[in-house]
Formats: sequence, structure tokens, C-alpha cells
Amino acid sequence: MDVQCISQRLGAGARRAGRGALAFLLGTLGVVDAWAGEPSVPYVPTPQEVVERMLQIAKVTTTDYVIDLGSGDGRIVITAAKKHGARGFGVDLNPERIAEANANAAKAGVTDKVAFYQRDLFETDLSEATVITMYLLPRVNLELRPRLLDLKPGTRVVSHDFSMDEWKPDVHVQMDAREKYGGSGGKSDVYLWVIPAKVAGAWRWQLPVSGKRQAYEVTLTQRFQMISGGVNVGGRTVKLQNPRLRGGEISFGFTAEVNGAPVKHEFTGKVEGESIAGSARLSGSRVQARFEWSARRAARSAANDAPPASLLLLSTNEEFVGLGSDKFLMQNCLHKYERKSQ
Ligand SMILES: C[S@@+](CC[C@H](N)C(=O)[O-])C[C@H]1O[C@@H](n2cnc3c(N)ncnc32)[C@H](O)[C@@H]1O
Repeated sequence: MDVQCISQRLGAGARRAGRGALAFLLGTLGVVDAWAGEPSVPYVPTPQEVVERMLQIAKVTTTDYVIDLGSGDGRIVITAAKKHGARGFGVDLNPERIAEANANAAKAGVTDKVAFYQRDLFETDLSEATVITMYLLPRVNLELRPRLLDLKPGTRVVSHDFSMDEWKPDVHVQMDAREKYGGSGGKSDVYLWVIPAKVAGAWRWQLPVSGKRQAYEVTLTQRFQMISGGVNVGGRTVKLQNPRLRGGEISFGFTAEVNGAPVKHEFTGKVEGESIAGSARLSGSRVQARFEWSARRAARSAANDAPPASLLLLSTNEEFVGLGSDKFLMQNCLHKYERKSQ
């Protein structure tokens, strides 16, 4: 197996984790230059019909800033600008792809909105993004996951074909893609995640109920966008019903006894750091009321969303011995694409 083949089979994680040892090995063989900057994912373009579906599912508009990680010929960011009026940029390790993408942006008349840079996606500042797009590999997605989860709540992440393991997508569609693999045709999966606010911990507030101030304390646990928990009202704890988190928008309900009678509570709000503001509705035999509602976080706890080390290790080892399936999927895509494009 040649050096190029080895480096394509290595994920960014493996690439960086093993850089020291491999640099030594490759240095000894005199092939360090071929190793540096080698893309961890081969170039296979997303069919244009899938690009359009990705942008549609992400609901891209003129207010969006789209960043494509591994941008190839630039088609995703260029389409986002031309068809949806968005701004953004793409990064790719391959200088030929960057030159091609910038030329395509000029042809499309969108150089005032988009640009392409030769840069490692792992070294790219993503803080400006409202939408991240990618067509990478499951293992690369997994390595990016902690950084994506730290983006502004509400940022949308769209991935072509590859998921994020146990971080379930908010939307998943499968579509026929006639142009896939350079025209052979195939199925494409499009996944969308909305970055959830970090809400784990204890939240407190008070409401005036039947002339008395009633104190509430909700304790939330969080795994990605999935939340659950209980509320303490007057010394009794009840489970939250229908807790839901999408970006920074949160809602939940419960029925708890207040002043000796059961009262149904429903809350919706927007999370802004350590506070939530929104509205509350209470309904019971003695109370029917709507309130403006705000809660403060009294104690923060960590969300349970770190990728299991065993999973990263497993995929890293798989890369080395070539037993994993995801890279063969993409390699297979590449071979089919290259055969068809010749
Ligand atoms: C499968 S292609 C996707 C191209 C484009 N996003 C699309 O969907 O049409 C993956 C691209 O990622 C680039 N790439 C791979 N590893 C990268 C890295 N670490 N940093 C930046 N680009 C990378 C490759 O050069 C390739 O152009």
C-alpha cells in the first residue's frame, strides 16, 4: 500500500494521534512531504440535486452564513449564495479544489458573498456559521462532534450520507440521486442537526399562584438535544412531561399540587446562557392563568454527549487495519465516481 493510500485511510483523529510515530516512520522512509496536508477524505462531489435538498432542509436564507467543511469545487456554498442569498466560505486542503471553487464562484457571480480557502477543516474557526455543511466520513464527523456541539445554539449542521453515531439527527431524509457517482445514480441520505443549548443543571423561578408566591426548581439532564428531568414544587418532585429542546427553544410540562389542588403547568421559553425567558400557562380547578416566565440556572451540570473513547479508538484501529466500513463506502464512491468521470 502506498503512502497516499495509507493517509487516505487514516482519519484526522488517527492522523493527528499517530502523527509523531508516523512522522518518524515516514521520515525514515523519506516520504514526510507526501504525508503533510493529505486530505483525510477523498474528493467526491455531492450531486447538485442533493446540494439543493441539503440547503432546503437547513432552510437557508439571506441571513445565513454557510461554512462547507471540505468544500471541493465549492458547489454547496455557491448554491447557498446564488439560490438563497446566503454568505459563507468553504475550506479544503487541496489547492486545486480551492482554485476551482473560487473560479466557479466568479462564474456564478457570487464572489461578493463567498470565498474558498486552503485550510484544514480542523483548524478552521466556525464561530461565524449559522449553517455548517459537510460530506466527510462518519469518523471525521465524530471527531468534529464536540466542536459542533459548542457552536451557537440554533446553528444547523447538514451532512450528506454520514451520521453522527448516537447523536440522532433532528431530520433525516433519504432520496434518489440520479447524478450520484458521476451519473451512475444511487441513494443519498441527508441529515440535519440543530445545535442544542446547554441546559443541564438546576433552574429556579417563582410564580404568583392564587395570591401566593410558589417556588419551582427543575433539574434537567441532557444528552445532545434529548432532555429529561423532574421539578420540585412545595417539597414534592414530579417528572417533566414532553420535555423538548430545539436549538435554544425549550418547552416542558408537569402536573403538580399547588395550594392543595392539582395544577397543570406548561412552559415554553428561550434559553440565553444562564437564563430562560418565555411564557407559562397554568390550569386547574382553582387557577387558570398565563404568565411571562423567567428562570435562572442555580447549578450547572455537564451534558452527557462526549463521544465514547472506545468508539474513537475502535475506528482509529479499524483505520489502521482497514477493517472499518465507512471509509470503504467513501472509497467506493470515489472509485465509482472516477470510473464514470473518465
Ligand atoms: C467528499 S468531498 C466533498 C466535497 C464537497 N463538500 C461536496 O459535498 O461536493 C470531501 C472534500 O474534503 C476535503 N478534505 C478532506 N480532509 C480535509 C481536511 N482535513 N480539511 C479540509 N478539507 C479536507 C477533500 O479534499 C475533499 O475535497
